[in-house]
Amino acid sequence: MCGIVGVIGGTTLAAPRLLDALRRLEYRGYDSAGIATLVDGKIDRRRAEGKLDRLAGVLQTNPLPGMTGIGHTRWATHGGPTERNAHPHATARVAAVHNGIIENFAELRAELEAAGQVFQSDTDTETVVQLLDLLLAQGMAPEAAAHAALKRLHGAFAMAFLFADHPDLLIVARHGPALAVGHGEGEMYVGNDALALAPLTRRITYLEDGDWAVITPTGVRFMDMAGREVRRQEKPTHVSGALTGKGNHRHFMEKELHEHPAVLGDTLRQYLEPSSRSVALPELPFDAAAIPSLTISACGSAFLAGQVGKYWIEQYARVPVEADVASEWRYRDPPLPKGGAAILVSQSGETADTLAALKLLKERGQTTLSVVNVPESSMARLADAALLTVAGPEIGVASTKAFTAQLMVLACLALGMGRARGTIDDATAATLTAALLEVPEHAAEILERDQEIQALAVEVAKARDVLFLGRGALFPIAMEGALKLKEISYIHAEGYAAGEMKHGPIALIDQAVPVIALAPSGPLFEKTVSNLQEAAARGGRIMAFTDAIGAPVLRGFAEHVVELPVVDAFAAPILHAIPVQLLAYHVAVLKGTDVDQPRNLAKSVTVE
Ligand code: F6R
Repeated sequence: MCGIVGVIGGTTLAAPRLLDALRRLEYRGYDSAGIATLVDGKIDRRRAEGKLDRLAGVLQTNPLPGMTGIGHTRWATHGGPTERNAHPHATARVAAVHNGIIENFAELRAELEAAGQVFQSDTDTETVVQLLDLLLAQGMAPEAAAHAALKRLHGAFAMAFLFADHPDLLIVARHGPALAVGHGEGEMYVGNDALALAPLTRRITYLEDGDWAVITPTGVRFMDMAGREVRRQEKPTHVSGALTGKGNHRHFMEKELHEHPAVLGDTLRQYLEPSSRSVALPELPFDAAAIPSLTISACGSAFLAGQVGKYWIEQYARVPVEADVASEWRYRDPPLPKGGAAILVSQSGETADTLAALKLLKERGQTTLSVVNVPESSMARLADAALLTVAGPEIGVASTKAFTAQLMVLACLALGMGRARGTIDDATAATLTAALLEVPEHAAEILERDQEIQALAVEVAKARDVLFLGRGALFPIAMEGALKLKEISYIHAEGYAAGEMKHGPIALIDQAVPVIALAPSGPLFEKTVSNLQEAAARGGRIMAFTDAIGAPVLRGFAEHVVELPVVDAFAAPILHAIPVQLLAYHVAVLKGTDVDQPRNLAKSVTVE
């Protein structure tokens, strides 16, 4: 959420480099953007409402000289997405870019206004700029002013400050969201993560939580909040600097949907012993045979993957699992067993609530395992161990391949834990492993049904509300279908456990509310069919994803039936996620929404 970048020193203009780095961060927010540089010691800036291309246009007509500068792409928290609220915020003395929230901004603003500071925006960030401006006006040097200002802030922030008349100085700070310093030859860089800095340098140092740093063209000093100098290690990064393109696809989401077979295969290979064709996990940070219970916490789609994980781990490894969204879990204070373990699921590895849950779980003595897609992310580094999804960069804001890759990792984990605990015998292990091995190929077959799903999308696009139903591990996938549809097509949708429908939502059923059923053959098929019959009997229009065994039954009363490959029930949630994502995609295209950057959203939610 909010991308921030900075460059200092060197002989190349800062603005084009900052713009290029911001392009890599646009997934974090795209409602406005801006860049500030130092020109003859004075702060100059360009800002624009809307996506980065608007800022690029502004810079083309009105270029920004200067070798040192900071840049920002915004996801609004305080203050509407206007040019006036776009970062960098600046006075004549100082400019700042910020990712996060200053929680005590109202109190600070009142105090600063009383002291005569004049605000130009509605943002929380500007309070920091005005506070720094006041301290500088009172005669403090930039470093002392920054330290004094930082100590007054409550909330979450990654920030970078630029000071007028100090072309050789950038000050940055981290309290919560990740922030990295990049090392160059006679120049230095700042960015939220390794991806932003990848084209500039392969040598980076992450600030630890609570650090701030003074950067010059030739080096950096890290300090803690007490002002003591601290050592932070420089590390090589392997993140590619190449900007991922869309290839021949209309949208990143479409491209990413079509990467499913490769991503699922790559992820599975990571956790499968090729010679014995059995699941082989790396050493877990907890003793799977001995843990009394597991907590799973995450947000959004990642949480829904975690919920599928709960079904699998409970069924196959016989470990009780408590799954909750991180924003609730972190304030709930549930009792945790001694020797317990926890799994945090996240594509970005930076989601604020999940990261906070991870820290709390560690504080409370739980062993933590993260399932993350970004290997250098905060969660990958902070958890006791990380299982990586091998999804590659996911640019579309709506998660697709990263979600199914999370499912694949959790499936392998359930299987591995079941083996370690002796709850899965050899024959069952062979069946379940075979089911996973078939997934990449089946994913490719499902993508070939694209036209059928497009036809279904034409009907769904007319709806105002949509109900997704599923049972067992397909229930979280029903919720994923609803989430994806809401997120990118702006059609209201709900995911329900099919058996719960008659306890309320059935009242919604009429011709205008399509019921989308996830109904593969298997142990719960007949139960699901009964629930769908109940909806059909009340005039509901049933559209079903099933397989060749279930299709003849459903064709008796459903308006649309999409036949997916027949698979073991274990693999069904992974494979049903693909058509519901594809459906949401086609509905969004028909509705003409901004598929890759849906309104009001951002990809990496680093505020709570
Ligand atoms: C939905 C979606 C979000 C994310 C959620 C968590 O399509 O992408 O719901 O799943 O914001 O993000 P990560 O996985 O980065 O923690």
